Amino acid sequence: MTTATEPAAASADVLSVRQLHAGHGGLTVVRDVDLTVRPGEIVALLGPNGAGKTTILKTIAGLLPAIQGKILVMGERPSVRRPHLAARRGLAYIPDDRCLFASLTTLQNLRLAARRTRSDVDSVFAYLPELEPLAKREAGLLSGGEQQMLAIARALVQKPKLLMIDEMSMGLAPVIVERLLAVTRQVADELKISVLIVEQHVRLALGIADSAYVISHGTQTMHGSAQEVAGQIEAIEASYLGDANDRRPGNPGDGG
Ligand SMILES: Nc1ncnc2c1ncn2[C@@H]1O[C@H](COP(=O)(O)OP(=O)(O)OP(=O)(O)O)[C@@H](O)[C@H]1O
Ligand SMILES: [Mg+2]
Repeated sequence: MTTATEPAAASADVLSVRQLHAGHGGLTVVRDVDLTVRPGEIVALLGPNGAGKTTILKTIAGLLPAIQGKILVMGERPSVRRPHLAARRGLAYIPDDRCLFASLTTLQNLRLAARRTRSDVDSVFAYLPELEPLAKREAGLLSGGEQQMLAIARALVQKPKLLMIDEMSMGLAPVIVERLLAVTRQVADELKISVLIVEQHVRLALGIADSAYVISHGTQTMHGSAQEVAGQIEAIEASYLGDANDRRPGNPGDGG
């Protein structure tokens, strides 16, 4: 386990983030973040609400400019506000709102995503057979769990090298979350896809991840193997509760 600065990036790393400062509209919300994702590895990015997890993913995806620091995705810097270039290099990003085309069917969503790679849409049904009977149903009519499966399937047909998933469990029952995490582990192992996953179900995420980083108030507070971080799980969960308490109106720690 380490809280110190990581060594320089190895060229084979799928993702290397060094001393990243990121934020919105000139306001820095994330400071000095280091992250490494190696081939075939699942890395969990954990932390309480508002810690800066989504900000980090968006900056890696090139949807936000980095304020300071260095990001290399498959050895190249993200092209800010040109996310199609990131996709071409092998980055797939599933945002927390899933971003499906609600009026298109499951199959149409998949075919649209598969256009660039010309991949076989049916091949993803091997990993997510639940979607096959839903092929002709509009994405907007699918349940939350089914929509998240479609979001994962849509990312997979893009044949990514690095898959970033933000809060795939939002609003879903733990049993569905477990299923989705198991699929994530399976595709990482069988398709050699590296995964950076943001997940509120900390214990479930650590159960399938190889390593984990904990972010709190925009800075990195913990990093280690999933096993090492799981050994600190009570401290992590307490920090989540601490943050919630800090935000209660009238609490002395409430900065507004
Ligand atoms: N578009 C924006 N403009 C200004 N501030 C923003 C914007 N998006 C996020 N922030 C702020 O940046 C900080 C980090 O937010 P972020 O969404 O990255 O946190 P998070 O860790 O993903 O939280 P959650 O677990 O709730 O999704 C928060 O204080 C938030 O209010
Ligand atoms: Mg978020």
